[in-house]
Amino acid sequence: MSTLRRIEVHLLPQLASAERLRGGIAVVIDVLRATTTVIHALASGCTAVYPVVDVEEARRLVQDNRAKKFLLAGERQGKPLAGFDLGNSPLEHAPLVCQGATLVLTTTNGTLAMHRAAAAERVLIGAFVNFSAVCEQVLRDSRPIHFVCAGTDGEITLEDTLLAGAFVEALCQGVCQPPPKRGKKTAPALSRFSLNDGARLAWDCFEQHGMVIEESLRLSKGGENLLELGYGKDITAAAQIDRFMLVPEVRRDPIRIEIGAIGMVRRRWPIPHASED
Ligand code: MLT
Repeated sequence: MSTLRRIEVHLLPQLASAERLRGGIAVVIDVLRATTTVIHALASGCTAVYPVVDVEEARRLVQDNRAKKFLLAGERQGKPLAGFDLGNSPLEHAPLVCQGATLVLTTTNGTLAMHRAAAAERVLIGAFVNFSAVCEQVLRDSRPIHFVCAGTDGEITLEDTLLAGAFVEALCQGVCQPPPKRGKKTAPALSRFSLNDGARLAWDCFEQHGMVIEESLRLSKGGENLLELGYGKDITAAAQIDRFMLVPEVRRDPIRIEIGAIGMVRRRWPIPHASED
């Protein structure tokens, strides 16, 4: 039996079955914009974020907690919703609005991915903005690792795949067999991690686009959509590697996200001096 630690990338939430996730540590990825927004909200002083799949359920949750400082945030197809306090722009989630508040967040794909990933034993929230801090937590853990990409409306997205690939690269550097290079003989397999095909695809994606993160986010379908809606600044914000050192973590009963860890021992971004803000 293999003793290698498993890394799986699920390019869409529906590819991450509860059975596969069970007993593992999952990192939810929705670069544009849900996971980036959750990190901004907690960094700006929100005490917790309730990820909710359904718009009406989100409204009810805020109604039921009228006396408390609850904020209703989210989007559908990128656009803010009528009667909501905030949209899904990470930049809106600033200290002035967030300090001491509980956020109820519902988004088209990201909050669904968070609920899906909850089948894992431990669930973290990842984005480019907390890249090294997430690596740190994953490396300190010993469970099988699952990167769960939110995608967009059932389609695989470049931005989420790219970040998953950056994680694979950072974790595997020097300890796994890298993607083959044209004309080069494949080196003998190194050990420590074993990868599923999703992880290898994501790694390839990072090899191709890792030097041009923000440009790649702009090229992606999610990026195009945000540019059309006038949210170009959100793309720049989402591409800021290691802006924050906090790792949001899912807590249960009820499902909510709080700061799980703060701090990183060292910078893990795999390409020195490239694509950094
Ligand atoms: C989502 O959850 O689908 C995204 O975060 C959409 C967005 O606000 O850009």
